[in-house]
Amino acid sequence: MKAFTLTLMVATVALAAGCTNIERSRDLANPAVSATTLAQQVCSNCHGLTGNATSPNFPNLAGQTEAYFEAQLVGFKSHGRHDPAGFEYMWGLSRSLTEVQIEGLAVFYAAQKQTAQTLEGDPNRLVAGKEVFDKGVAAKGIPPCATCHGEQAQGNATFPRLAGQHADYLVKQLLVFQRTDERPEGSIMKTVAHDLTPQNISDVAGYLQSLTGR
Ligand code: HEC
Ligand code: HEC
Repeated sequence: MKAFTLTLMVATVALAAGCTNIERSRDLANPAVSATTLAQQVCSNCHGLTGNATSPNFPNLAGQTEAYFEAQLVGFKSHGRHDPAGFEYMWGLSRSLTEVQIEGLAVFYAAQKQTAQTLEGDPNRLVAGKEVFDKGVAAKGIPPCATCHGEQAQGNATFPRLAGQHADYLVKQLLVFQRTDERPEGSIMKTVAHDLTPQNISDVAGYLQSLTGR
């Protein structure tokens, strides 16, 4: 009887240790792991602890709108969004996330504060970029970006926040829309980006990175 109790105790202790074990909380296939834990233990490796990524290879997620954020994770998970960096990095990571976890992650990142970006390089880019963002390019029928993304590029529902996003990432995505069908949910952006020149793209991305939104 004594030995049995002891075995039970050992088993209980082992189980408790397992639950707090850091490796288990990194388990992307365990629906019991909370969104906040996933954000802090997994997503933070690339997107930063508060969704402010230090490397421009990884988009900032801080302050992103919930609806857009969720749509992207669903897009990666269902393999709809298949731009190369998307499938390389995000397909595997999103594979087993549950609806509840995806919603929780969206709420977590929407509540994070963006840390200010400093723009390096030519200040004329800011002026030219603001022009494109606020007014579009009338001669080519390109609409003002602000119409959908908000005056401060703060985003709205399925229109993503662009303020404070890494310029390199924005350029990369504008080229994805312009040249490929790798983001099928972005068919509006394909039309918008069609006639942007490389200079327009570089200018508007530089301007957007410098904004703090809201
Ligand atoms: C190993 C690095 C890595 C990890 C870990 C990672 N991501 Fe990503 N994530 C990326 C890269 C790279 C992209 C950009 C993909 C592209 O260019 O299409 C991205 C893009 C995204 C996007 C789309 C952003 C946008 O503006 O469209 C969302 C949302 C996202 N990740 C959420 C998450 C969440 C939630 C986690 C944790 C479960 C996570 N990521 C973990 C590398 C990572
Ligand atoms: C008619 C509405 C509309 C207009 C105008 C518009 N956009 Fe968008 N944009 C969208 C939508 C919707 C998405 C999300 C697409 C998706 O879900 O794949 C998007 C996505 C983007 C993204 C990808 C963001 C990310 O995190 O991956 C960039 C960059 C972007 N737009 C830049 C611009 C620029 C620059 C302009 C102006 C030249 C512009 N947009 C004008 C609707 C618009």
